[in-house]
Amino acid sequence: MKAARYERTGGPEVIEYVDVPDPEPGAVDVVVRVEACALNRLDAIQRNGWFALDGFTLPHISGMDVAGTIVAVGDAVDSVAAGDRVVVDPSLAGVDDRSVHAGKGDLFGALGVIGATDDGGYAELCVVPASHVYAVPDSMPIEHAATFPTAYLTASHAMFDVAGLGAGETVMIHAAGSGVSVAAIQLAKNAGATVLATAGSQAKLDRALELGADHVLNNRSGDVTGWAREVTAGAGVDVVFDHVGTALFAPSIFSLGIGGRLVSCGNTSGDEATIPSLGFMFHQRASILGSDAYRPDEFGPAWSTFCDGDFTVAIDREYPLDEAGAAQEQLVSGDVFGKILLKPNG
Ligand SMILES: NC(=O)c1ccc[n+]([C@@H]2O[C@H](COP(=O)([O-])OP(=O)(O)OC[C@H]3O[C@@H](n4cnc5c(N)ncnc54)[C@H](OP(=O)(O)O)[C@@H]3O)[C@@H](O)[C@H]2O)c1
Repeated sequence: MKAARYERTGGPEVIEYVDVPDPEPGAVDVVVRVEACALNRLDAIQRNGWFALDGFTLPHISGMDVAGTIVAVGDAVDSVAAGDRVVVDPSLAGVDDRSVHAGKGDLFGALGVIGATDDGGYAELCVVPASHVYAVPDSMPIEHAATFPTAYLTASHAMFDVAGLGAGETVMIHAAGSGVSVAAIQLAKNAGATVLATAGSQAKLDRALELGADHVLNNRSGDVTGWAREVTAGAGVDVVFDHVGTALFAPSIFSLGIGGRLVSCGNTSGDEATIPSLGFMFHQRASILGSDAYRPDEFGPAWSTFCDGDFTVAIDREYPLDEAGAAQEQLVSGDVFGKILLKPNG
């Protein structure tokens, strides 16, 4: 098969479009013909060599968000069959010992992730456990399914399972045009929350309003804290959902209301941050929470919500497999709204 693979870390030029052996399924695995694979920032972070999950090895085929059609099944698989259209849960916790992906956990240090520790969807074929595929409804374009796994599960886990966002609460969501935040805005609205969305351009703010955001602000030119206080009648927000990191940390803290929770799931602009006022934190009874990957039992319910809901899918651009490096460069540039996809089989 063809794959976009790298043997050493570095710039996008290290990704090579090469022939590699077709993957063989274990007894409980399936082989998916990859029809769409969404990019994530971690793809570029690991390729650059800035950070890698434990278990990452070279050579590596990235691609955590895989959707396509099953073309082969292992001897012990009877839950799905060749011809089924599926989306893949990339988190490899709880995998049967007979899988080629056996032995991974779901906590940092032992994480196993299709496309991050194990080979993923930047390829014509991808082998995954049958336990980790979910049926894509006939009415759903396969590209829409590929936008779902990492973006929606990251947002859902952080906002609901970690920060406890509930109906009637207010949530501030930064980088409204990122794949994770496009999902977060819609999930929060779906759950009955009021959404304050920020981004770095008017074009992205306009799109955020179309997705359902109630209030928007340019976070490069606007006063984030003053705006948050104004639109909440002085109360402050219940939750800040953040993956921008350093750049917006202090105004995010000061935007929290009584009992407010800042949940962090990323550090795109930088890893270091200083709590701007301990007094503010304890007087407000505020919390800072970290959110890692989701737990195994979260994928199925979230996928059902996505299939049954009226979510808007934002696909910025599709690239052929041999342009994976260019696709990653566009992602890192920030000139993107929603997800970028690779189409390994045309
Ligand atoms: N914890 C987990 O399990 C998990 C899983 C998936 C992703 N993540 C993390 O979540 C983040 C989002 O990933 P993604 O792929 O959806 O999007 P992304 O490509 O990382 O989003 C980048 C956006 O961040 C904003 N940004 C960057 N620098 C900024 C600055 N100095 N000030 C304000 N905004 C800035 C920009 O938005 P504007 O153009 O609007 O300014 C940019 O478009 C990443 O950090 C990723 O590593 C974590």
